[in-house]
Formats: sequence, structure tokens, C-alpha cells
Amino acid sequence: MLLPLTSTMASESETGAPDPGAGSTEARQGSERGRRRRQFLITATSTLGGVGVGAAAVPFIRSWSPSAKARARAAPVQLDISRLRPGELLTATWAGRPVWVLRRTPDMLSALEQPNLLARLRDPESTVDAQQPDYAANPFRSRRPEYLVLVALCTHLGCIPDFRPRPDDGPSGVPWHGGFFCPCHGSMFDLAGRVYKAVPAPTNLVVPRHDYVDAATVEIGRDGAA
Ligand code: FES
Repeated sequence: MLLPLTSTMASESETGAPDPGAGSTEARQGSERGRRRRQFLITATSTLGGVGVGAAAVPFIRSWSPSAKARARAAPVQLDISRLRPGELLTATWAGRPVWVLRRTPDMLSALEQPNLLARLRDPESTVDAQQPDYAANPFRSRRPEYLVLVALCTHLGCIPDFRPRPDDGPSGVPWHGGFFCPCHGSMFDLAGRVYKAVPAPTNLVVPRHDYVDAATVEIGRDGAA
């Protein structure tokens, strides 16, 4: 434990501090004993403090050091998207989680800006910073509008939502523009992963860090150049 210096140092009377009669031989000897005792206490306290810091720091560092397995799991992955056709969804795994890459059609992109959809979304402007990198805080939630990259886990309790891309494929009785529907408790997301109002999921789906290595390859888990 780190001992506070002030609580360990002895008081003047305990250390033999000079009394008002200083000047006598006895008083000078007492003063010298006091100085040595203070020096000892300061040195001892500093050493204990150092030991305390060292002993406390090692387990702290160990507890925050990710294992090699964890580091490997979180390593970036590159996905070949060259054969992904417009409207298709690619599913892969990154950091132990399912991830999607959706290649959106022009119709899908224009649907994302329709006022009657935006009015039904909880966070159409992507204001919750933790849900996407800065470069995806835009109406399409992506670096390249054509491609959407998402962690495929519902932000309610982590189920994998269904991909329901067509307007006629939504939950019954709900005006639908295409998106993702979580059957566990009925949360709905549009084709940018933005959550609808009045559903259990509190936030938009997560856009992971990603970048494009070239026209045919997306890398997930790394920001790359902004
Ligand atoms: S886990 Fe998706 S709605 Fe509950």
C-alpha cells in the first residue's frame, strides 16, 4: 500500500526538535538526532511508497493486457467484395462477431432519404458517437454510399436480425422501405442500420471501423486514411 508521507513523518516533539534553550551541547545533540530520524523516516516512506506502487501496478497492467488470442480475434480482416452484386449481402466474422457488407442499389440509397422514413427513425443523423466512426456519421452511414458495413447484432440483446431488403417484405402492418428486422423482440432498422422509433433496440446498429484496400477489398477493423 502506498503510505502517505505526511502521515508517516514524526512530529517535531518526537524527533527531538530543538527546544527554546537551543545553543547548549545537549540541545545541539538532540537536534542532530532529530535530523537523522527525520531523514530516516523520509527515506523509509519513499521506499515503501515505491514498493507499493510497483506491487499494485503489476496486476493492473496484467489485467488490461489482452491475450494473444484476443488480439488475434480483433485483428483486421479483409473481405473480397468483387463478386457482391447490387442488393446482395455478404456475411463474415470479425472479432468474434458477425459482420455484414451490403451492396446497395440506387433505389435503396434513395429510399434512405425519404422524409416518411426519416420521421420514423430514432436517430436518423447518427448522433451516438459509439455506433459508428466519424466517417460513417452521414445519411448512408458508410465511407462509400454503395456499401454498408455493419456488425450484425441487434443493439437490444444481441440477436442477429433478418435481412428484409424489399419494401413488400417487412413486418406485417408496418410501412417498410427495406431493412433489417430482429425477430427476437421486433426491433427494426433501415438499410443504413438506423433504428426505428418505439422498438426495444435503443441505438442504430454498429458500423465497425473499416477501409477499402482497393476497389474489390474492404478491410474491417482498421480505419485507414480518413
Ligand atoms: S434482441 Fe433484437 S429486438 Fe431484442
